[in-house]
Amino acid sequence: MQDMTFVLFGATGDLAQRKLFPALYNLYLDGKIPDTISIVGLGRNYFSNEVFQSKVEKALRAYSRRDIQTSGLQRFLTKFRYCAFDATDKESYQRLNELIENREKELDIPENRFFYLSVAPSLVDVITSNLHTSGVSQTKGWKRLIVEKPFGSDLASAQQLNKKLSKTFSEEEIYRIDHYLGKPMVQNLETLVLANPALESLLNHNQIANIQITASETVGVETRADYYDKAGAIRDMVQNHLLQLVMMTALDLPKKITAEEIRVNKMEIMKSIRPILKENVYQNVVRGQYESGEIFDNPVVGYKKEQGVDSSSKNDTYFAARLYIDNPSWSGIPFYIRTGKRMNQKSTRIVIEFKNKVKESFPIEGITPNLLILEISPDESISLRVNMKDPSSNRFDPVYINFSTNSEGLPEAYELLLFDAMLGNATFFANWKEVELSWKWIQPLLEAYQEDMLPLYPYPAGSSGPEEASQLLLSDQFKWW
Ligand code: BG6
Repeated sequence: MQDMTFVLFGATGDLAQRKLFPALYNLYLDGKIPDTISIVGLGRNYFSNEVFQSKVEKALRAYSRRDIQTSGLQRFLTKFRYCAFDATDKESYQRLNELIENREKELDIPENRFFYLSVAPSLVDVITSNLHTSGVSQTKGWKRLIVEKPFGSDLASAQQLNKKLSKTFSEEEIYRIDHYLGKPMVQNLETLVLANPALESLLNHNQIANIQITASETVGVETRADYYDKAGAIRDMVQNHLLQLVMMTALDLPKKITAEEIRVNKMEIMKSIRPILKENVYQNVVRGQYESGEIFDNPVVGYKKEQGVDSSSKNDTYFAARLYIDNPSWSGIPFYIRTGKRMNQKSTRIVIEFKNKVKESFPIEGITPNLLILEISPDESISLRVNMKDPSSNRFDPVYINFSTNSEGLPEAYELLLFDAMLGNATFFANWKEVELSWKWIQPLLEAYQEDMLPLYPYPAGSSGPEEASQLLLSDQFKWW
């Protein structure tokens, strides 16, 4: 890995404390960042380098997945410098430029500059255009940009944002982060079939009945009403995370291919997802909003009573849809996707349901469909559900062949993604075409929402979502797993 400067916009924010500092530290412990790296944190308030370093240390103690090792800690912290910064003020960029240049000289490192934008979406294009005009991003080495989601709030705004970013950074220099692509089990999907040839005969058209992708959470809107009440589940989870999971599941690669080929493949899949026309949205999409209920025996308020939420809000906290990928591998196989806040469990998983040929030819009591279940988080496992006969009753019962890894020792998503981006490997980042195509797919849904063409179904907090989402599958003779 080449020496570089890592510039973090939003260094006093929540993401930096919870994810980014711990990720950098754990990479450091593994010797995966250059020893001469210069890390510059930017935030609005003034404080000294020492105070900033102690904030970094505090974040590591609170959130690092591994214990802090006192021996290397000071050495790690000395890599950090702080610069008080106002994104709209020209002088701030000059100060930043000086700081970066001084450190480059001091450490004798090349002008390789990595900019990480962990800031409000409205600041993204202001910062990138100022980076350009101030000269900060005009380096003799390489430059790269990591942008957090949301990337736009609809098709037009995403296109506009991309146009602005591309004035300063080329597509190869932009890393659009989607932390679901950093989850180890999701990364596993790329080589699942390649590494397990036996699965190739299972994971095909003739065997699969449907695919279900679930990302359910028990948390509510938390302290993010400001953003979430405008975004809803559709922008917060579906346009990015769930559609990325669809693309990764459908990749189905029997051979090793390059990062570029993976991107092209994903784009082709996204292109082949059949559009849901505005007038057909109600047949294929279910949206919901949580009402009061109980989470793990504790009473919780409904969405409209959450702090900062408009009491007449029509925002969705639940989304389910049926979609089809019209390509030779997946044609005719429904993909069902769903996500919701304040559900009865925290689980992100992909369930592949196999055709139940036995049932069709001769019914046997207790026979249920075989399932391949890929648990993505918080637990990681792959299990296969099969039917076993109970000799005493002659009935079949489902049993699970389960392979789980110890996820405690695994690197976190941000760690894997930061490492890749520092190496210049964009395999697990969303490229512009994927993002644009996913907004194109979402756009008619947003319009149907806006024109009140789709009911917003209530569901009690702590449940598995609105009943109508079960109907969506029942109409195809399936059920959610
Ligand atoms: C984020 C969303 O991108 O993903 C949050 O903004 C959501 O609303 C989170 O809670 C879920 O991530 P994970 O990794 O906990 O499934």
